[in-house]
Amino acid sequence: TWTPDSFVESTVDAIKEKVGNDKVVLGLSGGVDSTVAAVLLHKAIGKNLYCIFVNNGLLRKNEFKNVLNQYEGMGLNVKGVDASERFLKKLEGITDPEGKRKAIGNTFIDVFDDEAHKIKDVKWLAQGTIYPDVIESVSVNGGPSATIKSHHNVGGLPDFMKLKIVEPLRMIFKDEVRRVGASLGIDAALLGRHPFPGPGLGIRILGDITAEKVRILQEVDAIFINGLKEDGLYDSVWQAGAMLLPVNSVGVMGDERTYEKVVALRAVESTDGMTADWVDLPYKFLQKTSNKIINQVKGVNRVVYDISSKPPATIEWE
Ligand code: XMP
Repeated sequence: TWTPDSFVESTVDAIKEKVGNDKVVLGLSGGVDSTVAAVLLHKAIGKNLYCIFVNNGLLRKNEFKNVLNQYEGMGLNVKGVDASERFLKKLEGITDPEGKRKAIGNTFIDVFDDEAHKIKDVKWLAQGTIYPDVIESVSVNGGPSATIKSHHNVGGLPDFMKLKIVEPLRMIFKDEVRRVGASLGIDAALLGRHPFPGPGLGIRILGDITAEKVRILQEVDAIFINGLKEDGLYDSVWQAGAMLLPVNSVGVMGDERTYEKVVALRAVESTDGMTADWVDLPYKFLQKTSNKIINQVKGVNRVVYDISSKPPATIEWE
């Protein structure tokens, strides 16, 4: 019978057998899959696992610093690469959702390739691919493989894509990944994190992306997510986040008229993200959250709550 402990034991042996004394590079995202894959590999090969955690400038507020600290606390050999400026520059003026995804995916590949080149004699690329990613040809939360083709079809694949692949989670499902993570001693809060899209806040800022818009949305998102945690609602929601809308609305402040941004909050229940229902969050919670956002986040004067289900309304607005 399958148990997390036996999986860890046999997988660690298999990794040792497979990669021996070779060096392995892995991209950490802050998500469950890449983290569990990293800890498994680290258990098998220790310092020969080189982890890279890229800040694309579109992460949640303080996420880069906090998650990097957490990884270091787990003893992982991890390098944090803050490439925010590089991503923002590439995104300048792009409004089309697929155009933004492509720019973010391609920039990630370039940054990762640069970093992988700095690791002398690296032989393997490790990935947190799980079974559903293997069976779906195009995985929603999977790696950048779809964008790699369009970007690198002229000059060939980036060098890191030519490495041999090691994917310790490719035969198991998400719930099993979480159990394996728990058996490896990974923090329950990390294992229970909501899914977060690779392009991050980039697809939650409708229209073009600027540093100022990222800052506004990070503040709004932090108030919403921290509120869910404080009120014990976080674990009953499958995914939650805020969208910055490309419209201004009129408000009043004292004797002045304001003309500022609208944000939409979205929280959904789901099992796999393919279908989703909006969550009936308590009015008191929504009221408190809206007040906090409007009082604390300069540039926002209106908050709305998304009550649409998928289908047809996708979880992300872009
Ligand atoms: P939608 O918006 O399609 O989202 O209902 C379903 C799930 O997929 C995530 N998502 C993405 N994840 N890259 C990702 O890694 C993407 O481009 C992307 N778009 C959507 C979304 O957050 C949800 O969990």
